[in-house]
Amino acid sequence: MAPVQVKKICCIGAGYVGGPTCAVIALKCPDITVTIVDLNQARINAWNSADFDLPIYEPGLEDVVRQARGRNLFFSTDVDKGIKEADLIFVSVNTPTKKAGVGAGFAADLNYVELATRRIAAIAESSKIVVEKSTVPCRTAESMRTILEANSKPNCKFQILSNPEFLAEGTAIQDLLSPDRVLIGSLQTPEGKDACASLADVYAHWVPKDRILTVGLWSSELSKLAANAMLAQRISSINALSAICEATGANIDEVAHAVGRDSRVGSKFLRASVGFGGSCFQKDILNLVYLSESLHLPEVAAYWRQVVEMNEYQKRRFSKRVVDTLFNTITGKRIAVLGFAFKADTGDTRESAAISLVRDFVAERALVNIYDPKVPHEQIWLDLAEAMPTTPSATIQKQVTLSPSALEACKNAEAVVIATEWKEFKTIDWETVYAGMNKPAFVFDGRMIVDVEKLRNIGFKVTVIGRGERL
Ligand code: UDX
Ligand code: ADP
Repeated sequence: MAPVQVKKICCIGAGYVGGPTCAVIALKCPDITVTIVDLNQARINAWNSADFDLPIYEPGLEDVVRQARGRNLFFSTDVDKGIKEADLIFVSVNTPTKKAGVGAGFAADLNYVELATRRIAAIAESSKIVVEKSTVPCRTAESMRTILEANSKPNCKFQILSNPEFLAEGTAIQDLLSPDRVLIGSLQTPEGKDACASLADVYAHWVPKDRILTVGLWSSELSKLAANAMLAQRISSINALSAICEATGANIDEVAHAVGRDSRVGSKFLRASVGFGGSCFQKDILNLVYLSESLHLPEVAAYWRQVVEMNEYQKRRFSKRVVDTLFNTITGKRIAVLGFAFKADTGDTRESAAISLVRDFVAERALVNIYDPKVPHEQIWLDLAEAMPTTPSATIQKQVTLSPSALEACKNAEAVVIATEWKEFKTIDWETVYAGMNKPAFVFDGRMIVDVEKLRNIGFKVTVIGRGERL
C-alpha cells in the first residue's frame, strides 16, 4: 500500500502549539484543508474574530491567519465533524503537570490526551493517521494506540505518529517557517513508515527534505524531552555561574561570551536571567525525572531535578537581593515590576519568574506595581491568586496595582525590577523615571538589558544579575 496523500487535516486543540502550527501548515499547503477544533468556544470565537483579535499573541501570526483563514484554514468547536472528515489528526491538547495522585508535581496529566484519543476512536468512521503533537512522556503514543485499537470500528485502522513541536513562543512563526528540523516518529512497520511518509509530504511543501528526520516512536518522544532538558540545563548552568560572578565581581555576560565562543559550546541559551519560565522547560524536565525514577534510575533523576532546583534558587536569590539591597526590608515600599510574561514577545505567563518575584514581594508586605505590554490584567490576577493560595484576594489587591505603562508603574517607587526583556524596556526614559521615584532610587535588572553606566550617571543604584558590586 502506498502512503496516503493527506487532503484534510484536523487539529484538536487551538492553543499555543496547535494554533500557530496548523495555521502555518494551511498557509504553506493550499491543497490541504486544515480545521482546528477546540472545546473552548471563547477561544474559537477569538480565532474567528472579524478584527483578528486572536487568542494568543505571536509576532507574524495574524498575517498568516489573515492569508489562510476562510481559504483552507477553519476554526470550529465541532470536534466530531473535524475528526470524521480528516485523513490526519493532530492531537495538540494541553498536558499540564499532574496536581494530584500518583506522580503529582512531576508526571504529565494525560487526561486531555486520553479524552481526545477516546473521542477519535468513538467518532472515526474511516482509517486515520493520528499525530501526537502535545509534549508528552515517552510511550504515550503506545497508550494512544491501545485506546484506539480497543475502541475503534472494524474498518478503521489507525497509525500513530509522534511529531514533537520545537517552536519557541515569540518566534513561533519563524521557527515553523524555517525549522532546524522536523522530527517524525513512527513504528518501524510498513504501515508505520507509510504514515510517516504521508506526514513528511505535508512538511515537504516548504521544509527541505534533509531537515525532515524520521525515527522510531520512542526516540521521537524522548528527543523532545531531551532537547528541552538540555536547553534548560544550559540556562541553569549559566545561572549557577552568575551567583559566583555576583560573589566575586566577575561579569556573567563576559564569562558567557568567552565560553560561548568555543564552537563546541556555542553561544545560544547562555544568557543569565532571573530564571527560565514557559510551559515546557520545567514540565518536561519533571517528566524526565519521573520517567527516570519509574525506570529505577535515581542518579539520572537527581541529575535532571537539579536543573529545576537551580532555577528555583535563582528566582529566590534575586528577590532576596532586592530585599537585602533595600536595607533588609521592603515592607510598605513601592516596587515596580516591569514585565510579567515569561519572556519577551509573548503574552504567556506560564511559570514566569515574575510570578515568583511578586509573590515574594507581597509576602514581604511591599506594594507592587506591575506593567507588562501584552499580558491581560485578568491573567495577572489569576496567576497571583494561584501563586498565593493562602493569601486573601483582598490583601493581594491591596498590595498590587496593575499599571498602564512602565513610566506609570515606576512613579513614587523605591525600586524598579526588570523581569522580562521587552524591547520597550531598553528605551525607557530613565531621566523621567528617576525624577518620579523616591531616593535613593534602585534598579534591579534581572535580564541584563540596561545601560548600567548611563543609569548610574543619572543617579540610580543599579544591580544586575550576574554582576558583583565591584565592577
Ligand atoms: C522552549 C524551547 O525553546 C522550544 O524549542 C520548545 O518547543 C518549547 O520550550 P519557549 O519556552 O517558548 O520554548 O521559550 P524559550 O525561548 O526556550 O525560553 C524559555 C525560558 O528560558 C524563558 O523564560 C527565557 O527568558 C529563558 N531563557 C532563554 C534564559 O533565561 N536565557 C537564555 O539564554 C534563553
Ligand atoms: P499548548 O501550549 O500545549 O498548545 P494550550 O493550553 O494553549 O496548550 O492549548 C490546548 C488546547 O486544547 C486548549 O485550548 C483546550 O481547550 C484544548 N483541548 C483540551 N482537550 C480537548 C479536547 N478533548 N477536545 C478539543 N480541544 C481540547
